[in-house]
Amino acid sequence: MSSHADDSVVPLHSSTPTSSTPTSSSPFPADFVVPAFSTAEPDDGQRWSTWPAATPTERGPRPWPGWLVTSAAAVDTELGVVKSGKEADLFLIDRTVPDDVELGPLDGGRSALLAAKRYRGPEQSDFHRSAQYREGRRTRNTRDGRAMARGSSHGRRVQAGLWAAGEFDALGRMHALGLPVPYPVQISDTEVLMEFIGDGTAAAPRLAQTRADGADLWPLYEQVAEIVLVLARAGFAHGDLSAYNLLVHEGRVVVIDVPQLVDVASNPQGAELLERDCRNVCDWFARRGFERSHDHLFAEALGEVFG
Ligand SMILES: Nc1ncnc2c1ncn2[C@@H]1O[C@H](COP(=O)(O)OP(=O)(O)O)[C@@H](O)[C@H]1O
Ligand SMILES: [Mg+2]
Repeated sequence: MSSHADDSVVPLHSSTPTSSTPTSSSPFPADFVVPAFSTAEPDDGQRWSTWPAATPTERGPRPWPGWLVTSAAAVDTELGVVKSGKEADLFLIDRTVPDDVELGPLDGGRSALLAAKRYRGPEQSDFHRSAQYREGRRTRNTRDGRAMARGSSHGRRVQAGLWAAGEFDALGRMHALGLPVPYPVQISDTEVLMEFIGDGTAAAPRLAQTRADGADLWPLYEQVAEIVLVLARAGFAHGDLSAYNLLVHEGRVVVIDVPQLVDVASNPQGAELLERDCRNVCDWFARRGFERSHDHLFAEALGEVFG
């Protein structure tokens, strides 16, 4: 995985076109013939859009939003790292169809900013969150499950892929429930591509970074409580809800970081995790001078789960 220390933008059109032979990092097979409809070739920090090679289940739910870039001529450019976390790094990606390409009737937009959440493979990750959420999942007695339990490098790669698939799946479910999540664009291996929430290339602030306090927090709290309750009605808890996993964009709360979405009834710690979600957010609002009872929110959410 390449990680750019600076945020410098690699120009889309290289003045000296590079060889048309796909490199080993190309998502395409070695014998793939690069379509001849663009004069540009991916440069360092670029790749052909991974969209054309994705299978239907690796793509986001229909209807596809109008801004989605689906043209096979699109190039992905890595603009920089938004944030490095313990288990994953978030990259800002620009997916653009070069200007000299004519868009077809079934193509989407010409350009979109995407967030690429890349789960770490064997090299760096410790996956401290794994054990608690792994309960009840099917991998336990398989070869992959044992590899994960041992923490072998194969096991960690499998685990990274499971987290990515879990997050893509959870975003799709939440999107279907009408919840405000980044639209899940694509899953490939350990990378989840999703809508980038922000203004231009600046990511939206986390709730914890906003300056609002006291009664001004009321509309934000209402949205957070609604997220908890809608999820609960569908049987789920976020599992890691906090003021760090909620973004605020144009007054709207967007929920992120959902690989561990918890099935409250079937997870032995489901109710506990739901309560912790409620406590995390209510405590944060209380510290900012907007008192709300976490017991009340938890009771209401439990009622939605089992009601
Ligand atoms: N779709 C997105 N659009 C904009 N910023 C995002 C998006 N997803 C994540 N971020 C930013 O990246 C940070 C890390 O992402 P997150 O999914 O919370 O991963 P982690 O497991 O590292 O906490 C978030 O706190 C947020 O600031
Ligand atoms: Mg997070």
